[in-house]
Amino acid sequence: MDATEELDISLRVAPLRPVDASTVVLGIETSCDETAAALVMGGRDVVSSVVSSQVDLHAAYGGVVPEIASRAHLELLNPVIAAAVVEAGVTESRIDAVACTVGPGLIGALLVGVAGAKALALTWGVPFVAVNHLEAHLYAAFLEEPELELPFVVLLVSGGHTMLIEMVDHGRYRLLGQTIDDAAGEAFDKVARFLGLGYPGGPAIDRAAVHGDPSAIAFPRAMLHDGLDFSFSGLKTAVVNHVRAHPDVPTEHVAASFQQAVVDVLVHKATTAAREVGAKGLVLGGGVAANSLLRMQALDACEREGLRCLLPSPAMCTDNAAMIAATGWYRLRSDGPSSLATAAVPNLHLPLSL
Ligand code: KG4
Ligand code: ZN
Repeated sequence: MDATEELDISLRVAPLRPVDASTVVLGIETSCDETAAALVMGGRDVVSSVVSSQVDLHAAYGGVVPEIASRAHLELLNPVIAAAVVEAGVTESRIDAVACTVGPGLIGALLVGVAGAKALALTWGVPFVAVNHLEAHLYAAFLEEPELELPFVVLLVSGGHTMLIEMVDHGRYRLLGQTIDDAAGEAFDKVARFLGLGYPGGPAIDRAAVHGDPSAIAFPRAMLHDGLDFSFSGLKTAVVNHVRAHPDVPTEHVAASFQQAVVDVLVHKATTAAREVGAKGLVLGGGVAANSLLRMQALDACEREGLRCLLPSPAMCTDNAAMIAATGWYRLRSDGPSSLATAAVPNLHLPLSL
């Protein structure tokens, strides 16, 4: 028997309480540039949620610097967890399990959260639950609408991913489409950087676009009627080429026209997917789902199609730990505790079962 096995066994002898509506899970999120902790009861009631953004630390570099992110997580993790426990008005003894993002994400950033979560689970004698960050973005919707009817289609649009997923049941996912190059959030960030709008790019473009004309420039809608996969790298190049050819073009017109092109494709493919699989509704998730035009256009399109449209609040779309704790509750209920030997996996995939 090696040391890790011994450690695992020492955790498993701790009596595991039934997982029910009163089970409180501490969620921890450190996969990128947000240090977050939250307490969620029964997989749906957010008792507390604290997010400490490192945006200011990375802004000067125009993007996330992995080394700086890891160091900041190390400094912020304990105070953020303490703040979540205080905000909940409980003591640690009320926490029944510790759930943490184990991937995908930046390896150095993930390791801080995973090591901290395992240490707390061991100290408190409660289960450790490994959470997939992508699955957590899907579960964010349940926090605000626990009675969501399955199956539904999720448009998951974040900094690293653009995916259309059919959620058939808890833990049962079918991938319907995904980007073949850049993620939607990545396109927002790259275009914003090129336009000198700063970091993070999505909210900056969202703000600039308010003052621009979305029909000023006819940017390409790649693969619009060509299946459910996406491509955004050509659009990014089209923006660069247009601005170089027309240096006096107002930035807000470029921002608005670019945003319109991205949103047209996202909404068209998402509603097509929902129709094709006979879904009851469309759910948006991930940081780009905070985009104001995307939210408006998705609502309109769903209304036309007779689909239920679920838009988690912007704070629940971007990275947070409440979605980690909620997913941890569902995973603890279905799979039990995770091994303390669970690794952090930078390129972890969504577990597809269909
Ligand atoms: O889900 P998230 O917080 O982190 C990842 O898991 O990647 O998503 C971050 C991404 C960034 O690319 C950011 O620019 C984008 O979400 N984003 C937005 C908006 N707010 C955040 N994109 C467009 N419009 C927004 N309002
Ligand atoms: Zn995320």
